[in-house]
Amino acid sequence: MSRCNVLMLLVWTRVVLCSDVTNGTELVMSFLVHRHGDRTPLESTISFSTDPETLEELSSQYGYGQLTIAGKKRSYELGKFIRRRYYELLSPKYNRSEIYIRSTDVTRSKMTILTALAAIYPPIGERWHTEIAWEPVPYTTVPVKYDFNTAMVNCPKFMTAYYALYTSSAPEVTARFSGVLNILTSELGINITNLPALVYPIYDVFVSQLSLGLELGPKLDAILDDIGDAADECIGLTFGVNEYIHLQAGVLLEEFYTYAELAMSGEDTPKLRIYSAHDFNVYSLEAVTKVNRQGVPKYAAAYALELRKITSTGDYVVLPVYLPSPGEDVVYLQVEGCDLLCEYDRFVELTEGNALDISLWRDECGFSEDLEVDEASIG
Ligand SMILES: *[C@@H]1O[C@H](CO)[C@@H](O)[C@H](O)[C@H]1NC(C)=O
Ligand SMILES: *[C@@H]1O[C@H](CO)[C@@H](O)[C@H](O)[C@H]1NC(C)=O
Ligand SMILES: *[C@@H]1O[C@H](CO)[C@@H](O)[C@H](O)[C@H]1NC(C)=O
Repeated sequence: MSRCNVLMLLVWTRVVLCSDVTNGTELVMSFLVHRHGDRTPLESTISFSTDPETLEELSSQYGYGQLTIAGKKRSYELGKFIRRRYYELLSPKYNRSEIYIRSTDVTRSKMTILTALAAIYPPIGERWHTEIAWEPVPYTTVPVKYDFNTAMVNCPKFMTAYYALYTSSAPEVTARFSGVLNILTSELGINITNLPALVYPIYDVFVSQLSLGLELGPKLDAILDDIGDAADECIGLTFGVNEYIHLQAGVLLEEFYTYAELAMSGEDTPKLRIYSAHDFNVYSLEAVTKVNRQGVPKYAAAYALELRKITSTGDYVVLPVYLPSPGEDVVYLQVEGCDLLCEYDRFVELTEGNALDISLWRDECGFSEDLEVDEASIG
């Protein structure tokens, strides 16, 4: 009996983990956004560490907010996942007509995609050099000031809301996670009993320090899962507010429609589009596509909108696919109000309230050329 069947017998809700839903469909295009791999902490949040001095030392060989060796390894695994899942869209050798790759203009995202690409296109056939088993594959990037994927540094309307949201009260969440908030308050010596939104950056620092091999101590270790659960909720206090999610990922969603429609009309367009980015990009795309939000995306987590064609009918559907972490099983996510394989027109109908043309986005954001962006505040 296959693993899928066993799962179906045991817990029927787990069938979404099986590949069966894709049976009888043909993959037409995938639009994938992923988080970078493990990184050192951001300078702005290092004080949330249990041991900022040691963490600073451990980070010094990389600099703040930089991809680490563990991060490269995880990025490489992400690349292997992409090659495995999308082999039918990609030739063994790089072909620029088949794949579009865009990274935020941030070193850790760029290094992540470069590393992943080494696994997506391992060298085959004639080598260009005998000493190196690597093929160069290009990606594109947009300066942070103009990138619709970095709203927290270039969209003034969202930026204002974003910083206010970190300190705004959220009584329900506060009550639910009061235990975690109290322990963090006493362990870190920072009073966050009424600031639940800070659990997300605090957990972020914890994860980065653990990835660098720096322990949290027994008290925090014991509740690490609870802190993670709280962070999964608390990220929503800043990046999950329905009033703003279109400013975070509305243009990205619009881009999905554009290229899905090109692909459906038979135009020559890359069948795999990859955006190397950040946890908030993954999370925000989940939010605008109205799937069940998966909490803080782990390092190198990915969220893909797969455009598929039902072989028997020729109908196009969207399947949202979440990779919690390279090496884990994918989870299929359901758009609220739609079937798991969501008919394309229905998908647009349900989500287009969150989609935004880039010029409208700039207007609503209140973007102006003299805006000075602070790249270091990209989370
Ligand atoms: C899906 O396809 C696989 C392999 O082609 C097959 O083993 C499996 O039985 C199919 N599942 C369903 C539900 O059709
Ligand atoms: C690259 O991909 C395009 C689109 O699939 C195809 O038409 C073309 O022949 C490919 N080129 C090479 C060199 O394989
Ligand atoms: C934390 O701040 C709140 C007010 O926001 C206060 O009521 C509480 O006593 C403080 N707790 C600690 C441990 O300082």
